[in-house]
Amino acid sequence: MEFHKKMRRGRIFKDSIAFVCLIVAISCLLVVLMSIFRLPEVSEGKNALGFRSRGIMKAKRVSEDVGLGKLGEMIVEMLPTDLAFTVFVPSVRAFDRDLGLVAGKSLAAENFNDTYAILTRIMAFSTVPRMITSAAVPSKREVSFDSISGFTLYISKDSNGMLVVNGVRSNYVDIKRGELVIHVMNGVIMDAEFELSVGPDNDDED
Ligand SMILES: *[C@@H]1O[C@H](CO)[C@@H](O)[C@H](O)[C@H]1NC(C)=O
Repeated sequence: MEFHKKMRRGRIFKDSIAFVCLIVAISCLLVVLMSIFRLPEVSEGKNALGFRSRGIMKAKRVSEDVGLGKLGEMIVEMLPTDLAFTVFVPSVRAFDRDLGLVAGKSLAAENFNDTYAILTRIMAFSTVPRMITSAAVPSKREVSFDSISGFTLYISKDSNGMLVVNGVRSNYVDIKRGELVIHVMNGVIMDAEFELSVGPDNDDED
């Protein structure tokens, strides 16, 4: 009797080990399958947009987290990640509302060059060659820095502690990519002259 009980306990023990092994094996298989199916997707994106290969995986993850979007990504990809820069990138919504730019149409072959030229200008207006995290901005005082185009950015915090740059509020702050700090803005940082030339009203010339 006693002997049989031991036998049975032993078998149950062995069965649960087998069960755990099976679960582990299935999980490993899933991970392998997922990475196999993801890889082509990443390199496809790289070819289509000519992105540099470095940081693509990370970029994808950040984009999913905060909705940086393809246009915002293109601005970020123009900047080095190994230097202390800060960029105030328009959100997907701000690109659409303030510039009439949407990833699909604006990046189509016939519009790509125009879009890229606009993004280059926006990048120059919105990038400061130093690290500015939201914590580094004092809460009761405005600070100012020159962007790499020479345009002056006036940076402060509103009552909720969100960054405000030249009157444009931030949606998400302090996304780090290497030494680069990215803030996603609910608007576009640009000078008045450029704003006139790229407003959504001027978008449908043809
Ligand atoms: C975009 O620029 C490239 C390189 O300068 C040029 O070959 C191409 O024709 C341009 N495309 C359009 C639609 O203007």
